[in-house]
Amino acid sequence: LASAVGLVVAYLLGATPTGYLAGKLLRGIDIREHGSRSTGATNVLRTLGKGPALVVLLVDVLKGIAAIVFARWFYSWLATLPSFAPPAAIDLQALVPWAVCLSGLAVLLGHGRSIWLNFTGGKAAATGLGVLLAMSWPVGLGAFAVWGIVLAVSRIVSLSSILAAITAIMLVFAFEQPLPYRLLVIAGGLYVILRHRANIQRLLSGSEPRLGRSGG
Ligand code: G3P
Repeated sequence: LASAVGLVVAYLLGATPTGYLAGKLLRGIDIREHGSRSTGATNVLRTLGKGPALVVLLVDVLKGIAAIVFARWFYSWLATLPSFAPPAAIDLQALVPWAVCLSGLAVLLGHGRSIWLNFTGGKAAATGLGVLLAMSWPVGLGAFAVWGIVLAVSRIVSLSSILAAITAIMLVFAFEQPLPYRLLVIAGGLYVILRHRANIQRLLSGSEPRLGRSGG
């Protein structure tokens, strides 16, 4: 039960409906009825403007960072409790990265499928960046750099997020991350790409909006 607490905390952190709250508090609207219907910072940008989008982006990144930092602390602490003393053969500290891996997936799931929003939400790109930065900052910075370059060239946020997710998967191997972190980034990256299904269809048909254009 105690081990599930960390996962629930991560899920609830992710489920905090930042973009939705911005829409309700600033303009009394349900952001899920506007633009791409996502609660992410990109849709907040096109629906509410730059200031709210920046705040939502930062808070969503922080949710990912907080989930990983909390999981590392919580599970390391749990592993030291005498009541958890395992048979000599099991090293509980070695299980901590696996618990961090599950917490990372839980925060992404919470952001994408929030219990407060009938299991709707965002596409987990910003929260995913937070997870990456806290997990391994070189991987996070590398993925963020690709995101920024693709965005500067294409002005299409979804394309940037999808390519950043693919980059992150390659970087966990390049930076020789431990197995649980590799699995976290592979599963999390695929989740982010999956959440962009509608965007991928629009990209293929050439109708995905670019930043700075009307409707984009
Ligand atoms: O992070 C989400 C972004 O990649 C796409 O958002 O609203 O254009 O579907 P949106």
